[in-house]
Amino acid sequence: MQNNRILIFGRMGQVGWELRHKLACLGQVTAVEYPEIDFSKPDSIRAAVRTFQPAVLINAAAYTAVDQAESEPELAMAINGTGPGIIAEEAKRLGSLLVHYSTDYVFDGTKQGAYVETDAPNPVNIYGKTKLAGDEAIQAVGGEFLILRTSWVYGARGNNFLLTMLRLARERSELRIVGDQIGAPTSSECIAQATADILTQLLAPDGGGLNGRSGICNLTSAGETSWYGFAKALLTQSAATYGFSVPNLIPISTSEYPQPAKRPANSRLSCQRLAQIFGIIMPSWEDALSRVLETLTEGASRDEQR
Ligand SMILES: NC(=O)c1ccc[n+]([C@@H]2O[C@H](COP(=O)([O-])OP(=O)(O)OC[C@H]3O[C@@H](n4cnc5c(N)ncnc54)[C@H](OP(=O)(O)O)[C@@H]3O)[C@@H](O)[C@H]2O)c1
Repeated sequence: MQNNRILIFGRMGQVGWELRHKLACLGQVTAVEYPEIDFSKPDSIRAAVRTFQPAVLINAAAYTAVDQAESEPELAMAINGTGPGIIAEEAKRLGSLLVHYSTDYVFDGTKQGAYVETDAPNPVNIYGKTKLAGDEAIQAVGGEFLILRTSWVYGARGNNFLLTMLRLARERSELRIVGDQIGAPTSSECIAQATADILTQLLAPDGGGLNGRSGICNLTSAGETSWYGFAKALLTQSAATYGFSVPNLIPISTSEYPQPAKRPANSRLSCQRLAQIFGIIMPSWEDALSRVLETLTEGASRDEQR
């Protein structure tokens, strides 16, 4: 590695925020954020990279409002499709490593079983199309890159399903949750930890970088559930701590919960490649969930003591 500088795009996002902390001991970390760096203004991306000259670039910034993307396709494409290609060009120019995050939503969800990295994408919504365009732009540029494909991201902060459920559980006695979409809820903390583990290997003096292993690698928690199953687990585990009664939970079908953007029914991603290349075995979604709830509880009890 020519220097120890790591540049993270998307400082305040779910994954970006965790990365800042998990990568702190790996190098000199700088994290930048919108609107200082605006992916719809390519020159702001180039200027950041040229200023910091990082050895590693991590793109955790994205347009993630899946339903809103249906009515803002150009903006979503600029941020998710064009921006990553520009970062890839800058990374290649510097001879630096690029780590980027992709999504289960590049698939149509019709496969029986878990998707592998070589399966043909076929996104069913604008967000998925724009993310796929970003993956393809990075691959077209070439250079040293890793596209980590994850799913159903949640954490102790940010906009996510877990925090929405905890809020709704206090407000309502009954919740109707989609039960026929299957995937693996993956915590932002686990994504950042796995990214740190990968970088630790690649940046080691004898690590040799990616060395021809550039490409896509799935990165999700182990196991699978539905949104209904996830809601049931998180509310059951946290009800006593937060002093609410678990609402009556009713599994419903996707057709009973119309949303602007279509969702794939099957979001399962196989993480065999991650295990083969990097020796990383991700925790079960249940274990990762317990850990995130513990973090939230610790924060809540500290607040009470103040
Ligand atoms: N969330 C999921 O369920 C999910 C699932 C699969 C894959 N992923 C992928 O995982 C990665 C991280 O997702 P996340 O959940 O951490 O996202 P997030 O919490 O929504 O954070 C996205 C970040 O991108 C920034 N951003 C938005 N518009 C921007 C622009 N025009 N220019 C520059 N930055 C901009 C946001 O800034 P502001 O906060 O200021 O808007 C925020 O820091 C993304 O690549 C996402 O596609 C996410």
